[in-house]
Amino acid sequence: MSDRLCHPESPGENPLLLFERWYSEAQAAGTGHADAFALATADGQGRPAVRIVLYKGLEGGKLRLVTNLESRKARDLAENPRAALVFFWPTLMRQVRMEGRVETAPAAESDAYFATRDRASQLGAWASDQSRPLASRAELEAALDAARQRFEGRPVERPPHWGMLHFVPDQVELWLAGPHRLHDRFLYRRVADGWSSERLAP
Ligand SMILES: Cc1cc2nc3c(=O)[nH]c(=O)nc-3n(C[C@H](O)[C@H](O)[C@H](O)COP(=O)(O)O)c2cc1C
Repeated sequence: MSDRLCHPESPGENPLLLFERWYSEAQAAGTGHADAFALATADGQGRPAVRIVLYKGLEGGKLRLVTNLESRKARDLAENPRAALVFFWPTLMRQVRMEGRVETAPAAESDAYFATRDRASQLGAWASDQSRPLASRAELEAALDAARQRFEGRPVERPPHWGMLHFVPDQVELWLAGPHRLHDRFLYRRVADGWSSERLAP
């Protein structure tokens, strides 16, 4: 991608289109797990936590991810919907940072995505009380067996505690490595009629 394409002197440029282009380029470049990003949340007291999750595509300006809706991240987000994320694609030496809020996707969207998962993953979603203490691996295997028996001979329905989240960015920074650590940084902020943009010092 050329510098011109993400230059802030193109007013109103939608950084999510640039992000999508970078994402395709990262996949094409063979960057392992181009879809993995770090998602940072903070609870009601402002205590931060961060973990890797997988990007499931962009829909109407929102980044999609799937998770357990009773996990620590989901509990943090219920108290404080503000979140931040970062992708790093080492093969291209590019970074994308975003800040925004997270919403629970409509149930129909979670259902549709869950239906595309392989049966083993669907059963795993029933078996795991994500982020809760577990006495042993055996306890997890037993929960998986129970889920297998429960759904034997019929489709696995989506557990109510599993679903899709939408990350709605209001700030996006595209970062690309430059020579002698003189990197390029372009910060976009959502404004009433689109996006504002500016170049930041590296
Ligand atoms: C490569 C990778 C991909 C992951 N993808 C997801 C994911 O898409 N959704 C998810 O809930 N957890 C995913 N995890 C696990 C999370 O990092 C984390 O352990 C889990 O979501 C519990 O986090 P929490 O206790 O903060 O809610 C992934 C971990 C790795 C290393």
